[in-house]
Amino acid sequence: EKCGYASFMLKEIAEQPKAVADTLLGRIDGSGTLSLDEVRIPPGVLREVDKVVVVACGTAFHAGLIAKYAIEHWTRIPCEVELASEFRYRDPILDQQTLVVAISQSGETMDTLMALRHAREQGARVLAICNTNGSTIPRESDAVLYTHAGPEVAVASTKAFLTQLVACYLVALYLGQVRGTKYGDEIGDVVRDLSGISGAVERVLGTMDPVRELARSLAHKNTVLFLGRHVGHPVALEGALKLKELAYMHAEGFAAGELKHGPIALIEEDLPVVVVVPSPRGRSVLHDKIVSNIQEIRARGARTIVIAEEGDEAVVPYADHLVRIPATPTLLQPLVATVPLQVFACELATARGNEVDQPRNLAKSVTVE
Ligand code: M6R
Repeated sequence: EKCGYASFMLKEIAEQPKAVADTLLGRIDGSGTLSLDEVRIPPGVLREVDKVVVVACGTAFHAGLIAKYAIEHWTRIPCEVELASEFRYRDPILDQQTLVVAISQSGETMDTLMALRHAREQGARVLAICNTNGSTIPRESDAVLYTHAGPEVAVASTKAFLTQLVACYLVALYLGQVRGTKYGDEIGDVVRDLSGISGAVERVLGTMDPVRELARSLAHKNTVLFLGRHVGHPVALEGALKLKELAYMHAEGFAAGELKHGPIALIEEDLPVVVVVPSPRGRSVLHDKIVSNIQEIRARGARTIVIAEEGDEAVVPYADHLVRIPATPTLLQPLVATVPLQVFACELATARGNEVDQPRNLAKSVTVE
């Protein structure tokens, strides 16, 4: 069943272009209109929504952090993202105008299930984003949008994450469409961009040899840091999580703007730091700021591993290792920027002799609180 791959994780990383395409399939018509027929919450109810709360755990939580940027931008509805395990213990403010989005690959994560039960008890509507047909979370939700990643066997989530992102973008665009926000004009463009994303992921996968080589050369390290800004921050968190679970290394993700508030003290000679660079087009302020961050850490001896768009020349002088990703609209960049981090963690873990499909102490679905 590994189809010639050395591990399920490698197979699932390679399946990502198809998983992304399958999750979009049938949900966007030729005119760029979205139709999400599994969303069984009436448009009238969605028009009244005044707050979106995303609950999830682990990698799915990182997808939720990225969803916040898309939902707030395209719908102008305030969006909170919360770890499902924390949610119900803080007595969250919820009512019938709250839309709770529960993201879960397995559909069986107990923390997420308890969070959605709590939300429904308070009268909120719950939309599940899930990869497992008929699992508990979608069964207990008001609506479900299935990700079509196919079965994910490796404990570390890869293709499910990318499809969760696609589903989150679709939900954000759908809400924007139903509510007719002033960003409605952008929807057609985004839908077109999304259609090209599967090909972009494929291109990234075709250029990963240097990333694998780099990962092998870092197998003896104890720590790797990850930095990002905007949607690149959750990508950095996801890169660090992958490295923790697979390579059993100390890995941390930071918002690059936080560096000078503490983490910069960690920088020492030859410490590998992966930096996810936002597009120089669009929000160029963010781009320029992260270039300064790269300069700052490099001046203190860090070994910089820079993930940047094709054509971004400003980063070249400060990158010890440069990983190119295709130019993508800012909000969609996580779909391409995450892939090298998955490959990096998988290869580094393998070089350390770890079993990547079944890391120690972890289970594929966590059905206890
Ligand atoms: O099945 P779920 O998406 O609800 O699982 C949530 C987390 O347990 C999961 O993403 C976990 O963090 C993965 N091992 C990450 O690779």
